[in-house]
Amino acid sequence: MIDGIAKIEESYIDKIYEIIKDKNLTATVVTFGCQMNAKDSEKLLGILEKSGYSIIDDENKADFVLFNTCTVRENANQRLYGRIGQLKNDCINNKNKIIGICGCMMQEKDEVDYIKDKYKYVKLIFGTHNLYDFPHLLYETIYDIYVNNNEKTKTIEVLDSSDVILEDLPQHRKYPFKAGVNIMYGCDNFCSYCIVPYVRGRERSRSSAEIINEVKNLVSNGVKEVMLLGQNVNSYGKGLDENITFANLLNQVANIDGLYQVRFMTSHPKDFSDELIECIKNNKKIARHIHLPLQSGSDKVLSDMNRKYTKEKYLDLVGKIRNNIENVSISTDIIVGFPTEDESDFNETIDCIYKSKFDQVFTFIYSKRTGTKASTLPSISTDEEISKRFDELLNVTKEVGTKQYEQYVGSIFEGLVEEEDSVPGFLTSRLSNNALVHFKGDKSLIGSVMNFKLDECKGFYYNGSVAN
Ligand code: SAH
Ligand code: SF4
Ligand code: F3S
Repeated sequence: MIDGIAKIEESYIDKIYEIIKDKNLTATVVTFGCQMNAKDSEKLLGILEKSGYSIIDDENKADFVLFNTCTVRENANQRLYGRIGQLKNDCINNKNKIIGICGCMMQEKDEVDYIKDKYKYVKLIFGTHNLYDFPHLLYETIYDIYVNNNEKTKTIEVLDSSDVILEDLPQHRKYPFKAGVNIMYGCDNFCSYCIVPYVRGRERSRSSAEIINEVKNLVSNGVKEVMLLGQNVNSYGKGLDENITFANLLNQVANIDGLYQVRFMTSHPKDFSDELIECIKNNKKIARHIHLPLQSGSDKVLSDMNRKYTKEKYLDLVGKIRNNIENVSISTDIIVGFPTEDESDFNETIDCIYKSKFDQVFTFIYSKRTGTKASTLPSISTDEEISKRFDELLNVTKEVGTKQYEQYVGSIFEGLVEEEDSVPGFLTSRLSNNALVHFKGDKSLIGSVMNFKLDECKGFYYNGSVAN
């Protein structure tokens, strides 16, 4: 069935090409949200490129602008509305300009209705379950504009679920030397605050053969580093015919010839096995960085969040990871102001940060998401109390993170040079433990692996120099 769908979608790419080939059209995809959305955007850009668009990085100039949205927190939605609002005049002046919106936020009916009502110039809407159908939907839009002269106003198709995921779509990769690889889709954890299971659907793992094949192909095309992607990579393998754990898969990927390094994201603490710790410890091609979202340090709040671990269990796990994996860094996500969080719960979180010695913390203020279990809970704290907690959280994470970073000043580490720095003549490199090093160098070094002396700690990055 999948092969048949793939052929149909390819035929739409050809049809679009026929309509637009002489028109010199440009396109851009604006991505919000997580690594999974970034990966989807590479597929969307690949389709646009193959259809005959030139890819540019300017939503004001582009003939086709596609917003790939996130809805994990309310402010992600607000940002989207700001951006599409700014394009209104461009659309009035150029009736052939196409604005499309896809991604997680489009799985929410209220948001789609709001866009239909308030942003009439948006011409194409689709969701996460029919990303594979983008060539077809784009064709309908293009046909309407360039052949029918704008008779129809919109193409909208959002599905509640789907089994179809096309993997062999053309891709437009942002970096030639590193790539994300989906190992699973969706999420079954239903943390009580989180909308992801509702907008991304049930958890499905890809077969290991498909994943290994994709990584081998990437490596033969010059990729040095891959990041294995899933909302909860530690539960990889559930529901597959083969008997495989995430640790098995990680080992197999790491052992692919020619691959320099493998990263993964995200690990849920409840499923982090001893087998996985052993696997990372024993295979130097697996990056020394683990993203392990804590969310809260209070057992009461963790239980209300449906996270399925306690503070003690989390701290034991961090201890095991740090004792076994040399120079490992641990980053985390924390939510402040969950409805049932009081001052003493928050203090448990702070205690956990000191005890875990997090290298980096991503901090969020709780945002109520429609349809989630937590959305029915009244908050026991005032906005003022929550904002005070948030400020304290930022101070503590900075203090703890800087101490972690400072311990390596003066040492030499290997890193992959990723991009030009904002300061001319400087580049940025990423170490195995995910820390960034800024150094002086020529941009021809981008994509190469080099040794760096960490000269100075600047909080959450280093100033360094090339060491041979
Ligand atoms: N699957 C990943 C998280 C994906 S969402 C995991 O479980 O770790 C990324 C982060 O956004 C979460 O870790 C959480 O800290 C934050 N987040 C999710 N829903 C949120 C909400 N409703 N309000 C505030 N932060 C939220
Ligand atoms: Fe959301 Fe929890 Fe799933 Fe992460 S594990 S995506 S926080 S429901
Ligand atoms: Fe956002 Fe969707 Fe990712 S809601 S965090 S883009 S899975």
